[in-house]
Amino acid sequence: MKDHSAKLTVLKILSDGSFHSGESLGSVLGISRAAVSKHIKGIQLWGVDIFRVQGKGYQLAQPLCMLDVERIQQEVTNPVELHPIIDSTNQYLLDRTESLESGTVCLAEYQAQGRGRRGRKWVSPFGANLYLSMYWRLDAGMAAAMGLSLVVGVAIVEALEGLGIEGVKLKWPNDVYYQDKKLAGILVEMSGQAGGAANIVAGMGMNIAMKDRDSEVDQPWVTLNEVMADDHIIDRNQLSIAFIHAWQQALRNYEQVGMQGFVKRWNSVDNFINRPVKLIMGQKTVTGISRGIDDHGGIVLETNQGMETYIGGEISLRNNE
Ligand code: ATP
Ligand code: BTN
Repeated sequence: MKDHSAKLTVLKILSDGSFHSGESLGSVLGISRAAVSKHIKGIQLWGVDIFRVQGKGYQLAQPLCMLDVERIQQEVTNPVELHPIIDSTNQYLLDRTESLESGTVCLAEYQAQGRGRRGRKWVSPFGANLYLSMYWRLDAGMAAAMGLSLVVGVAIVEALEGLGIEGVKLKWPNDVYYQDKKLAGILVEMSGQAGGAANIVAGMGMNIAMKDRDSEVDQPWVTLNEVMADDHIIDRNQLSIAFIHAWQQALRNYEQVGMQGFVKRWNSVDNFINRPVKLIMGQKTVTGISRGIDDHGGIVLETNQGMETYIGGEISLRNNE
């Protein structure tokens, strides 16, 4: 892995919000001003806004409160790894399921290859969002893995509610929505089976403070900052702790009671319940009124032919109002 320590040190120094001259940054790192300037350009490519004022030096355009793995680790029993710069937190865990303890969490500040379903890109600028994945050894095996994005979705909404953040909803099967815009995406992946158990990695990318400028996202999206309305800065460490607790509890609960324990909870926060939607399955499209999920986590549509249930990984649900 490339060594990013100089850039991360620069960011840590700048995160106090003050100006720092190229000379002072260079002397901390033992490098020239020109080398500092090169690192600043690299940091800007991660999506961080830094400007330079003649005679004063560099300053961050927005406050940056970096993730603090020690603080998170004090509050949770799961092993937590923070890799500020990574390709993908999901991929990191998938590559190591043989050696990791079930429940291990991987967090990052920036993903170079963040991904969504079917290999789509997940936009992941530095420090602006939350990229969190958890490895779970699911004794019930692969068949039970289908429902996991729904279970994790319920856990995310309930964790936010626990922090006083209301109005966040779910879109089947893997999106977190607020006022019809995407706030977060969930990606559940598998790295094969060990005996009867399935090695699962669940990952979430949640937009916290991402700016329009940063993103080439081609659908409506929203940040948690906007959801909060007031000016209070969201503590991503506190959020991470809340999500780790909620996921751990939900996954254990799912292993004990299965999907049944989540159907009511999921339907109570379904963004599209009782609204016209269409399901896109390759070339085929089905339209109807969404009636929420059934006991197996399939989406139920009231169509002209009656109630129909759809389940599977290759289906996209869209608003059809
Ligand atoms: P579906 O899963 O129903 O097909 P989707 O369009 O949400 O719908 P996903 O694969 O789940 O598709 O998510 C990837 C998509 O999410 C990308 O194609 C892009 O449009 C969008 N996206 C990427 N990064 C972000 C982000 N940071 N915030 C919101 N949306 C994003
Ligand atoms: C989606 O909406 O398709 C799911 C997006 C999932 C993004 C998260 S960010 C953390 C984890 N690592 C990844 O590469 N993807 C997931």
